[in-house]
Order: sequence, then C-alpha cells, then structure tokens
Amino acid sequence: MDTHFEIESILKEKRVFKPDPAFARKANVSGAAAYNRLHKEADQNYQRFWARLAREQVSWFSPWKKVLDWKPPFAKWFVGAKTNVSYNCLDRHLEGENAWRRNKAAIIWQGEPEEDRRVLTYGDLHREVCKFANVLKSRGVKKGDRVVIYMPLVPELAIAMLACSRIGAVHSIIFGGFSAEAIRDRIDDAQAEIVITADGGWRRGSIVPLKQLVDKATEKSRQIRDVIVLRRTGQEILMKDGRDLWWHELMQEASPDCKPAKLDAEHPLFILYTSGSTGKPKGVLHTTGGYLVHVTVTSKYIFDLKEDDTYWCTADIGWITGHSYVVYGILSNGATSFMYEGAPNWPGPDRFWELIDRNQVSIFYTAPTAIRAFMKWGDHEVKKHSLASLRLLGTVGEPINPKAWMWYRRLIGKNRCPIVDTYWQTETGGIMISPLPGAVPTMPGSCTRPFPGIAYDVVNETGESVGPNEGGFLVVTRPWPGMLRGIYGDPARFKEEYWSKFPDKGIYFAGDGARRDRNGNFWVMGRVDDVMNVAGHRLSTMEIESALVSHPSVTEAAVVGRPHEIKGTGIAAFVTLESGADADAALKEALRQHVAKEIGPIARPDDLRFTDSLPKTRSGKIMRRLLRELAAGKLPVGDTTTLEDFSVLAELRESEES
Ligand code: PRX
Repeated sequence: MDTHFEIESILKEKRVFKPDPAFARKANVSGAAAYNRLHKEADQNYQRFWARLAREQVSWFSPWKKVLDWKPPFAKWFVGAKTNVSYNCLDRHLEGENAWRRNKAAIIWQGEPEEDRRVLTYGDLHREVCKFANVLKSRGVKKGDRVVIYMPLVPELAIAMLACSRIGAVHSIIFGGFSAEAIRDRIDDAQAEIVITADGGWRRGSIVPLKQLVDKATEKSRQIRDVIVLRRTGQEILMKDGRDLWWHELMQEASPDCKPAKLDAEHPLFILYTSGSTGKPKGVLHTTGGYLVHVTVTSKYIFDLKEDDTYWCTADIGWITGHSYVVYGILSNGATSFMYEGAPNWPGPDRFWELIDRNQVSIFYTAPTAIRAFMKWGDHEVKKHSLASLRLLGTVGEPINPKAWMWYRRLIGKNRCPIVDTYWQTETGGIMISPLPGAVPTMPGSCTRPFPGIAYDVVNETGESVGPNEGGFLVVTRPWPGMLRGIYGDPARFKEEYWSKFPDKGIYFAGDGARRDRNGNFWVMGRVDDVMNVAGHRLSTMEIESALVSHPSVTEAAVVGRPHEIKGTGIAAFVTLESGADADAALKEALRQHVAKEIGPIARPDDLRFTDSLPKTRSGKIMRRLLRELAAGKLPVGDTTTLEDFSVLAELRESEES
C-alpha cells in the first residue's frame, strides 16, 4: 500500500441530468419517492430490507434461521437456508406463472464469424445445463470440487458454469486472454482436477489456441484428471489419451434430467482470481445465497430489466462483470442476455452498433475504455446505425471521464437514455454504488449513491469520515450480501488485504479513493494502492514486476501506471539490467513479450525504459510517486532510455518520501 498517495479532488462537474418522466413512470423503481422509500426501509433495518428482497426475488428450498451472522470480517448471510443458483436461473422460469418463459430467449449469441448465431430459450438452456451437469457427475465431479473453465465467449461457457452451480461444484473461470503460466498458477492454487476448455476461440479473425495453452499449463501436472474440450474453431488439436474428452461426445450420452442440489446458502459458488497489491493473484471466493440475492436485485433495479428487454453486457464472462451481469443476475431475472464472442472492431469499427440494431438491443453495458476507443474511431461509425432500440446505458470498470460520458449520452444514447455508472469490484460480487435510472439524477463522472442497504463512507487515515468534497479512502461500513467470503485457502491474507487498514472496526477497504459531494453523490477517483485499471482490466504492479524480473537479463523492475488516452491507465516499466545485457530495442521488445507470455497480452507494458538504477528511499522503498510523474511526462527527462539523473532526482525527493 502506497500511503503517500495524495487524494485530490479533481472533478468539478456541474452538469446534472434528471430522469426523464416517461422513463421514470415505467421504471422498476419509479421516481424519487419510491427510491427514498427503499433507502428509508434499508436505513431502518438493512438486514430486514435484504431479507424482504431475498424472499421476493429469489426462490429458496428452505428458509433461513438468521439473516446475518457477522463476526468481522467473516459474514454468513441467510444462515441455514437452502437454494440453488441454477434453479433460480433456469427451473423457476419453466414453472408456475412463469412457465411461458420456456420459449423465451435466455441467450442470444453472436459468434465473431458472421454466420455463427444461436438462440437458446430457457427450455433449451435448462436441458443443456442438466445434461452437462450429468456429464460432470459421470466424470466424478462432486459437491465442493473445483472446476477450472478456460473458454471463449460461447453459450457453452454459461452452460458449464450453470452446470457446476447445479451440482454444487465450484467454478474458477480464467479469462481467455491469460497465458499458460497464469492458468497453471490458478489450477494449482484452486487444486482443481478438471479443466473445461475449447480447441480455440475467435479474435479479430484469428484463432486463440486455448487448448494448446491448457496443454502447456498442465504439461507437468499430475493433478488434472480430465480436460473436456468443446469443438469451436475446428482446427486440428492434440487430444491426450486417457485425459482429454470431447464435449460433444460426452453430451451425446447424457440424460437431460438432473435435479438441482439443495445447497446451503453459504456453499461456495465460485472462485475468481484478481490482482491485489502483491505479486500473486488472489482467489476471491463467493458463495451461493447472498451473492444470488445481490446480483438478482441489483440487475432488476439498476438495469430496470423488463420481460421484453434485450440486454447486452459486453464484458467477457471471465471477469466478475460477466459472472454477475452477463449470466447470473440477468438469467435469474428471466431476462434475455445477448452475448458476443468477438472484438468490437471486427470486421469493422461499427460492429457493436450494427449488432445493437440487428438484435434490437435495449440495454447496453460497457466499459469507459471501450467508449474512449469508440470516440477515437469516429462519430461517423456510430451514425451509420440507428440505435433506436436502446433505452438504457451503463458503464463499469473504472472512473469515466466526463467527456466520454457526454459522448456516450449524446452519440449512443441520443440524449434519451439514462446512463448508470456502476461502481463495484470483484470482491463486492455485485454493484455497490449506482444511480437507479428512473429515480436518481446523474452527473458525468459520478456513480451517485450507494444502492439501498449498502453503506459507504469516505474516511481519512484514522478512519474518520471526511467532510463534503474532501478526498479520502472509500470504505464499506457494514456487511452486504454479495461480499466476498474470503480468499481461497488464505484467511490471513483476506484479513490483511481488506480489513486491516482500519482494524477492529469491521470496515472494508479495497483500494479506491473517492470524495462525496454536498448532495451525497460519490466521485470515485481511482486506486490508491499498487493496483492499476488498464483498459478495464485489473493488474497489480508487483505482478508485472515479478514477470519482468523472471527474465534472465533483468535485475530489478518497477512498474507504474500512467495516463493513457484509450486505456485510461497505461503500463510504464522501469528496468535495470544484468551487466552484459544490451539495452537495445530488441531487448525492450523481448521483455514486453516476456510479460505477455507470463501473464497475458493485457499486461504487456506500453512503455519500457532502461535505467542504471531505480530511485529509492533510504529504507530501500522504490519511489513510485516519482516514477509515476516521470512516466506521465511531468518531469523533464526527455526521450532518454537511460535515466542517469535518477539518483539526483531521488536525492531531491528523499526527505519527502521517507
Ligand atoms: O478502482 C475501481 C474500478 O475497478 C476496480 C475493481 O476492478 P475489478 O475487481 O476488476 O472489477 C471491475 C468490474 C466491477 C475498483 O476498485 N471501478 C469499477 N467500477 C468503477 C470503478 N471506478 C470508478 N467508477 C466505476 N464505475
């Protein structure tokens, strides 16, 4: 944790957009009075509030004995209740008054190749999930076993995760852009024995060789029993005898009858690895009941989901946004989730807009980094399409700059669609701070107010609330249903990472700085720790540093974020070399590739500079703030590849930093 980071209030935004009365009238939370009632109810007794929503919006096999058991930092929600996530996402849409949804589209999927399009109704999806759950059972997968999934964005990814949840297996999905090394670490950490993958996935017209990467990751592993392979791209691949099995062959035999397991509300649902402030990614653990309540309720109120909506969240399912708001929260509401496998600029930069028109998408949820790329590709690409079907827009993943927000509103939303800027994290499970579109006025750059029942504060170093418009640490002051229940296999790290900044207070802090204005609206200012948001992906500086240092030519490395026009934050690396290594362009490129190989292409540094030494304090701490300024071009270093003046700069800054 870099405690020297100064949080400054930088945004001075004054524009306010009130909800359109026509939208508000029909909204699931309609108008300010309804919204205030929800807040009042939640403030009076937040546990009772969540319990009411849990009863109304989620189906349970048996009720809870206690809403919350809170022994900071360990929470149990809906203690003793039994439910099943796949039951809530599937079966309940085929029964009783909702039985008509059997033939409603659950997933509308578009592959990157134009001709690949599939629609799965709730009836279809239920059948496929039951069959695959039986496949898992037949391969010996039991309740509590970890299943690693490394797939492209195809319906089978959703089928695999729902099948795991149906039988109580714990999925750990790895984003398709991660490297073999990253897969291996995650398989080892989760002690998984089974991997589900595909031969490949499509990305900008080429094949990402997923199976090959899995083979590389598991080369030396004896722990992997089965690798189930979906045929997606169709190229020749190696199938290892006695270990690798084709998805389609296993499915042929499988029965479509599979009862959902009656699982404890606290039964683990999934592990999802994310970057923290150390070099080793952590397995964030989410459980069943509370998570399901959180994502179901927030989907309904924040995205204002209606029966006739076609909802599109552009996130990959390999990230938390995809888990919660491509699959679980959306299907649990019986809504239609549109999924697209490919890149936003393939075959052309207007691909998304064309897909919105063709599929009559009504709700569109994406990341600021994507919006900035769309802006760069030009207004004319958007104007080729009507976008008249859209009625609501959302953003997630990083602070959105007001310019991008206004462009989104004007060009995509045609000044008609409300924008929900949703703040949350892998750890929070679901959205935490966001406007409700039919009730809350919005401002470019503010995620507005915490969801009813969720308590945020902005505090100083000693944990006291700061005044309006003062910057501080963004913290949660009471438990919430979707909260992470731990870091897989590492309770000490769980306490240390999230609950130790303000000890003994049960206060959760996960790395962001913010301010709250006079009207109670939150303005998130970004990470104050060693985690960066690069193009909406979360990366730790230490992870990239250890990747660089693992190269034989590198002695030491320091990585910082720097402003980047499209990605929001770009990656700048300062590297010192072993004697004898040539500080040339070829090595620079080799090191960038090395990071891509170790972690994945998303972690490849944008800038890499060689230096004789890194600026440090007397205690040996790298002076990151100085490096951040250097990387941002705020200090006069010119276009040098060696920063000889570092030691001088270091001395100048030393007293300040140590
Ligand atoms: O810094 C915050 C930023 O993304 C971080 C969480 O990243 P991750 O766990 O990968 O989850 C991303 C998707 C939920 C946060 O700590 N962040 C996320 N949403 C916003 C945001 N920053 C500002 N505004 C947001 N709406």
